[in-house]
Amino acid sequence: MAKEKILSVNNLVINFKTDNGILKAVRNVSFDLYKGETLCIVGESGSGKSVTSKAIMGILANNSIVEGGNIMYRGENLLEVSEEEFYKIRGHRIGMIFQDPLSSLNPIVRIGKQITEATLLNSDKLRLMYNDLISDDLIKYKNTLAKMQIEIDNEKKQTNEYIIELNSKEGLTDEEKAKNKELIKQKKAELKEFIKKTKAEYTEKAKGYKQVLDVTKKDARLKVKDYKEKTNKEHADKLKELRAKKSSAGSREEKDNVKKEIEAENIAYMDKLKITKAEAKKRAVEIMREVGIPQPELRFNEYPFQFSGGMRQRIVIAIALTASPEILICDEPTTALDVTIQAQILELINRIKAERNLSCIFITHDLGVVPNMADRVAVMYAGKIVETGTADEIFYDPRHPYTWALLSSIPDVDSKEKLEAIPGTPPNMIYPPKGDAFAPRSKYAMNIDFREEPPTFKITDTHYASTWLLDPRAPKVEMPKIVSERIKKSLEEDESDE
Ligand SMILES: Nc1ncnc2c1ncn2[C@@H]1O[C@H](COP(=O)(O)OP(=O)(O)OP(=O)(O)O)[C@@H](O)[C@H]1O
Ligand SMILES: [Mg+2]
Repeated sequence: MAKEKILSVNNLVINFKTDNGILKAVRNVSFDLYKGETLCIVGESGSGKSVTSKAIMGILANNSIVEGGNIMYRGENLLEVSEEEFYKIRGHRIGMIFQDPLSSLNPIVRIGKQITEATLLNSDKLRLMYNDLISDDLIKYKNTLAKMQIEIDNEKKQTNEYIIELNSKEGLTDEEKAKNKELIKQKKAELKEFIKKTKAEYTEKAKGYKQVLDVTKKDARLKVKDYKEKTNKEHADKLKELRAKKSSAGSREEKDNVKKEIEAENIAYMDKLKITKAEAKKRAVEIMREVGIPQPELRFNEYPFQFSGGMRQRIVIAIALTASPEILICDEPTTALDVTIQAQILELINRIKAERNLSCIFITHDLGVVPNMADRVAVMYAGKIVETGTADEIFYDPRHPYTWALLSSIPDVDSKEKLEAIPGTPPNMIYPPKGDAFAPRSKYAMNIDFREEPPTFKITDTHYASTWLLDPRAPKVEMPKIVSERIKKSLEEDESDE
């Protein structure tokens, strides 16, 4: 069965402007996320994991420059969708949980109120239905305007760079200066012309989309109205029927049962349109229970600081769930927690993922938590994915020296000891190393690793690695003993289990 691709990141390149120069945080990253799976992104601090997930969420810092690539979700490039649409999409469909739960909670608002408000916001059925009906056409229209702005900004940037370059030339003759002045004037005129032309072109396009959108909006209003009327009528009919049943009921018990049915019908009715505040409160309590907060009715009125780190992370998860997301991005959600609590939160994420059939991107620097979470793994180093494969392929048949190094550094389950720290430190990404960025820290590095970037080699349909060791000309090397022995041991254990 072909798996359904739900999100696709292609050739993503992200830089940051810093005082010391341009920092290259994400260097040509591509991966797909399939429906219902968990993809773990693993790598040391600074490898670009958070920047990648922030790009998906549309919350990159202001000094970021998206140099290239796209992030496709439901047929749209998230990098081009205007901010307003982005909020709508990510509010409804893509949820994110961060490392530090306190930063996503309002410290001065009671927990219950925070969850209730998120629930209310995300359960106005009529509004959601209307938004859903118009979203495709609205995005097309908005994107046209956003794309226009991007094109104009690009052209302005190029013109500016050109002018700065001409002006920065020193030791010119008067004649040359006059010529440059003329060139600059000409370039400015060209820019003006370009802006005029681009605006005209896009305005025409946008006008077309706007007309389509207006028709869709009208249509959507009618559909929502029909739905509302139909729901009202069904409700009225049902109540009539139940009241008749009640008055013809013989025993007291029968009457009470019908009364309960009426109550249930009233709730179901509200649910089809818009839930009430009381109902939202009830749901907030239920969702607190779903994420494992004991005595939710009591804890409802407490403030974030009154909760432990683990409980706060559960609340953040609860709030993300009120929007019924289909993708959940978890960025090191357990790093700030101690080990036993960590395990509980991982278990919770796994359970919710299964129950709600979510697709999950799970980010961590600890390969040790990956076996319990991942269907697939992407190993990141210095802004690149250096190896990707199914969880089994990464654990039982790793190919990149960096993956070996990560595997060597997982604490042993029995001894709880860290086996082998990775020597050296990750590179300064303002000056990323040439060739294989891991070479300076790798005892497997060959000359070519310092000169040329390795191509990506295919090992299986699902397993890829970018290392010169996979080139047919490379000498045969063995992975570190520590890793091969552990693989052997766990394969033996698996066998004796059966
Ligand atoms: N706003 C910013 N300005 C400048 N550099 C940034 C900015 N945000 C991130 N970076 C740099 O981008 C690189 C990738 O950072 P990122 O946060 O993605 O790392 P990470 O893999 O999530 O690491 P960690 O495990 O520490 O969270 C780092 O070198 C980081 O310093
Ligand atoms: Mg991070």
